[in-house]
Amino acid sequence: MSMELSSYLKAFKQDKLKTPIYKLGKSLFFDNRLSGNNNISCSTCHSTALGTGDSLPLSQGQKNKILTRNSPSLFELGEGGFQMFFWDGRVSFSRTEPPLFKTPVKEISGYYPQASHITRALKNPLGAQVLFPMINPDEMLGYKGENPIANFEEPLIIWEKITEKILAIDFYQKQFEVLYPDEEINIGHLANAIAHYITETFRADKTPFDLDRLGIKKLDEKSQRGLNVFQQNCLSCHSLPTTTAHSFANIGIPSIETIDKGLPGGIPVDFQFKTPSLRNVALTAPYMHNGAFLTLEEVIEHYNDPVKSLKEYDISRLNKKYRSVYGRDLKWADTPETIAYKVSTFDARLTLIKMTEEEKADLLYFLKYALTDESYLDRL
Ligand code: HEC
Ligand code: HEC
Repeated sequence: MSMELSSYLKAFKQDKLKTPIYKLGKSLFFDNRLSGNNNISCSTCHSTALGTGDSLPLSQGQKNKILTRNSPSLFELGEGGFQMFFWDGRVSFSRTEPPLFKTPVKEISGYYPQASHITRALKNPLGAQVLFPMINPDEMLGYKGENPIANFEEPLIIWEKITEKILAIDFYQKQFEVLYPDEEINIGHLANAIAHYITETFRADKTPFDLDRLGIKKLDEKSQRGLNVFQQNCLSCHSLPTTTAHSFANIGIPSIETIDKGLPGGIPVDFQFKTPSLRNVALTAPYMHNGAFLTLEEVIEHYNDPVKSLKEYDISRLNKKYRSVYGRDLKWADTPETIAYKVSTFDARLTLIKMTEEEKADLLYFLKYALTDESYLDRL
């Protein structure tokens, strides 16, 4: 490593100063007590060891229930450009004056939310997203009769009870007192601390691609060729430098277990999902909103011929790998009708994609080695 590069990376590490809010957010992120049954934390499904996901096609929640979607990676989500969360964008934020939150809970939505004490505590749109796993029975809350908090139905009350539970723990009470001596603590403060921790920790902004862009270290030739292939075929949705245009598209992904139509409303078409960031993507397999593809090679093949990839989808590859985890096979849920619909409506930009074998290999190399943060390269 050149001197210049190593001092640059060192300075970056020092940036992550362990401030009180960082420590608080970190403790909460790993704490099972944030869940109703004291058995599951954010890190259960967003594990640092597993690229901030759970390495499953479909995530597993309370009682090992198989959820309907893949646990997304958390890299870069705290960056200002990320203002829509979940695969269907159902939590979003607009920087208007006053700011606008759109969420499935009306009391924290709109320009003048009724529970403004919560939204005011959120310093980052990601914080609004963080509130939702806690009230989801499948994810963290647990089911009625299992724990006192899960017996409540109103999100505001559930959040209040979780806040009380956490503040009753001496360790947390002291930290909140130091951070907010004059404020009444609510769930927004908890979510804000977790969002702060995610923002500071799960960075992927020192990739070889960035070091080249910033003039610190030139990309190797193969990555440079891969970047050209990426710019020709992928840029319209995965714009650079962020690797996402923060938009939705139907790219003809096979449905697993359920017919999940993604973005509600189906305008102009169904099966649209959020275009995710591809930073650190080599660490976050399996891929897509339902983990339909095990490897980046499979993803590239899909883009090269989406009709064939969809029609000839082979779920046995997933089942071979995950049967023992789930205790059963996952099912490919598409019908001849959904396949015909997806083929006739998927995003026209896909039809422009055509890659030779050599280009595919270069693209794979770019995704793997040029989009992985320097601090994670040893995990490849
Ligand atoms: C049981 C597994 C599970 C737990 C526990 C869990 N998550 Fe998730 N998380 C998921 C799944 C699955 C999704 C995608 C759901 C969807 O899009 O409908 C998700 C989505 C997200 C997203 C949105 C990412 C994006 O790109 O839009 C963030 C951020 C997130 N979770 C953070 C957290 C935090 C913080 C916690 C703890 C408070 C947490 N999660 C707990 C499984 C889990
Ligand atoms: C028309 C828009 C569009 C184009 C063009 C496009 N993508 Fe995507 N990409 C998406 C959307 C939308 C998703 C999420 C789809 C889903 O989960 O159903 C996605 C998901 C992915 C994923 C999975 C990421 C994850 O974390 O699961 C990878 C990898 C990827 N794209 C790579 C590429 C590459 C490489 C190209 C160029 C060959 C490309 N994309 C072109 C829209 C696009």
